[in-house]
Amino acid sequence: MRFVINGEDFVADIDPRTSVLDLLREHAGLYGAKKGCNQGACGACTVLVDGERILSCLALAVQYEARSITTIEGLSENGVLHPLQQAFIEHDGFQCGYCTPGQICSAIGMAAEMRRGIPSRVTADLSAEPIALTPDELRERMSGNLCRCGAYNGIVEAISEVFVEAAQ
Ligand code: FES
Ligand code: FES
Repeated sequence: MRFVINGEDFVADIDPRTSVLDLLREHAGLYGAKKGCNQGACGACTVLVDGERILSCLALAVQYEARSITTIEGLSENGVLHPLQQAFIEHDGFQCGYCTPGQICSAIGMAAEMRRGIPSRVTADLSAEPIALTPDELRERMSGNLCRCGAYNGIVEAISEVFVEAAQ
């Protein structure tokens, strides 16, 4: 099967039951996306596909042939970290770091959802354009990404700096 991972073609002879997460970790040698629960409950495996966030542990790789898969390893450019990666460092948005790749990919996907006007459970004004990333919106939209270290304050600060303050 033929994939596009972080902008590069990747061909793998895999079992059709292989998940995107196992494709990345066991075949492509990309260990950024983490296997936390392997059942869609923790968000540690979050990656981007054509800019949309997915839980890679629940996704069959065969369904993502020729789609553009981006992992945490693909976010930096020419050795320069993505602004959100840098913000996580500056705001201490992690402790052990296990959840961090998923948090960052998820937040980037979340920001794209906001730009597309996709409402969440807590969106009060469904006609608002664009939807404001309020603290409630941020917490609701990132609620699928758990952090066992409880680094939530730093995570929220980092995401706010990049996607809330930058929009003001
Ligand atoms: S490993 Fe995919 S959601 Fe937990
Ligand atoms: S930093 Fe350890 S789980 Fe989030």
